[in-house]
Amino acid sequence: MMVGVPKETVPGERRVSLVPDHVAGLTKAGVDVCIEPGAGVAAGFPDSYYVEKGARLETDVLAKADILLKVQPPTLEEIGKLRERSLLIGFLYPYSNGAGILALAGRKVTAFSMELMPRITRAQAMDALSAMSTIGGYKAALLAAGRLPKFFPLLMTAAGTMFPARVFIIGAGVAGLQAIGTAKRLGAVVEAYDTRPAVKEQVESVGGKFVEMALETKGAEEKTGYAKAQSEEFYQKQRELMARHVATADVVITTALVPGQRAPVLITEDMVRKMQPGSVIVDLAAEQGGNCELTEPGQEVVRHGVTILGPLNLPSTMPFHASQMYSRTVSNFLTFLLKEGKVALDLSDELARGPLVTHQGEVVHETVKAALKPAPRS
Ligand code: NAI
Repeated sequence: MMVGVPKETVPGERRVSLVPDHVAGLTKAGVDVCIEPGAGVAAGFPDSYYVEKGARLETDVLAKADILLKVQPPTLEEIGKLRERSLLIGFLYPYSNGAGILALAGRKVTAFSMELMPRITRAQAMDALSAMSTIGGYKAALLAAGRLPKFFPLLMTAAGTMFPARVFIIGAGVAGLQAIGTAKRLGAVVEAYDTRPAVKEQVESVGGKFVEMALETKGAEEKTGYAKAQSEEFYQKQRELMARHVATADVVITTALVPGQRAPVLITEDMVRKMQPGSVIVDLAAEQGGNCELTEPGQEVVRHGVTILGPLNLPSTMPFHASQMYSRTVSNFLTFLLKEGKVALDLSDELARGPLVTHQGEVVHETVKAALKPAPRS
């Protein structure tokens, strides 16, 4: 079976789905690994590195591969080139890419979406979302430090004492915890808040102070470990309780997400207005609509003297390690699917079934299928 690794075509995407170090594991599992020339160059992996590890160079892998490993979802044009009944593994943006999902079903592609990997122990080494969130959180803290017209650490110099920056992090999941740790290592004073009460200890373990709020958060966590959506009244109260922390922060990094939904708006324009001029907001939820009302996805804007960044695809700005981490998760998943060089799909196993979106011409993932249907008129 031929496993194809194409060059990513989305503008600005520098990651590659497989790095040279993971080629041997796949060839050992009985497949033939083919790299499109130049696929890894932007991430720091020239073609020769792949060849040394046992891969072949092949043009037009989209049309030739039995199994295609991607980072970004294929475009409609690319889907048109895929072999019928081939297998695809990659980020598919299943809730915002309806046309792509339907086109994959139309092409009878067996498509797995890395975003939908179940959060079970066996799948931890296949958790691409967490891997990419780690990079997002790290980079968010660095971006903020780069934009802030102040030092992060406390400095006592002959020219005076500079007090440390105050950083407030909203949402302390994988990205938020990494942002806390990074800001802390740079010397800032870090506070954080999350609706999942279990997070308090984790925040403290990376050096942050957990902000306690008088909010009812007992049922705030799903069995999956993700946050549950809350009512508008809850968010209103949360905004009121957080306002003081936002106003006194030099930097606010927001990472609050609820899977499959628009990100909750937690910072209003009025809250931005009350921040000190020169303060910085990095909104990691920009891709899902943003946690700040004034965020413009993909842009850096200054509003009421506050710099607001809505970065998209931060992992791609650190393509070497992002590719290495992503490749590890994807190759682990593919190895799990392979038995003696062939795909052995056992749909009774939640690890195979969970991320499966399209199969045998159908959209088979129930939540994705439901999201494709227009909501009934009331
Ligand atoms: P995420 O990226 O979906 O959300 C980020 C954070 O935003 C979450 O911590 C969430 O609780 C928080 N959030 C949502 N609404 C909020 C609000 N209104 N105010 C403040 N914070 C809000 O989640 P992520 O980071 O991917 O994972 C969340 C948790 O899942 C992890 O911290 C971990 O405990 C668990 N997990 C479990 C894994 C497993 O294999 N069992 C793997 C990875 C994570």
